[in-house]
Amino acid sequence: MNIMDCIITRRSIRKYTGQVITEEQLEALLKAAMYAPSAMKRLPWHFVVIQDPEKLAKITEIHPYTKMVVPAGTAIVVCGDASINDNITHLTQDTAAAIQNILLAAHGMGLGTCWCGLYDNVERRAAICELCGIEDENILPMSIIAVGNPDDAPETPDRFKPERIHREKW
Ligand SMILES: Cc1cc2nc3c(=O)[nH]c(=O)nc-3n(C[C@H](O)[C@H](O)[C@H](O)COP(=O)(O)O)c2cc1C
Repeated sequence: MNIMDCIITRRSIRKYTGQVITEEQLEALLKAAMYAPSAMKRLPWHFVVIQDPEKLAKITEIHPYTKMVVPAGTAIVVCGDASINDNITHLTQDTAAAIQNILLAAHGMGLGTCWCGLYDNVERRAAICELCGIEDENILPMSIIAVGNPDDAPETPDRFKPERIHREKW
């Protein structure tokens, strides 16, 4: 798949076959994440991979909009590390870039993903830290990515809006 097709046809997938991704696929996705750009090249991220069905079910209890992690079979909790960069704006942007790399790499490999936001809900974030055994307060879970073999192929919407492009001035 060429890169423009990959970007344009990627969709959030909420239906999965139940077949868990392979170790090779998982490692490729995490490698893609770690090649994302980051402010001052700090690479301030950690990835907690959850595949235990009981823990996946627990995630859905903590965060009601993550139901797809159970059939997906894999959840990647993407964390920013404030001991590496204490600028929260950088951490959120750096981890977002890493997340998008995972989504696109997965789609290119025929896998499905869904990015589920977490950081702005303090209670959910604390509960995810407890579930993952994160005790270091510098480690900030930003988002949860469901990854699995897709059982859905949503249509590609038309999102190109020329009126949103401003040339030389607003
Ligand atoms: C920061 C962020 C948080 C999101 N949180 C959720 C979520 O909690 N649950 C969910 O099902 N989708 C979530 N999404 C996915 C969006 O709903 C989805 O990207 C959007 O509807 C556009 O669809 P597309 O990804 O298929 O292009 C989130 C996306 C982003 C970028």
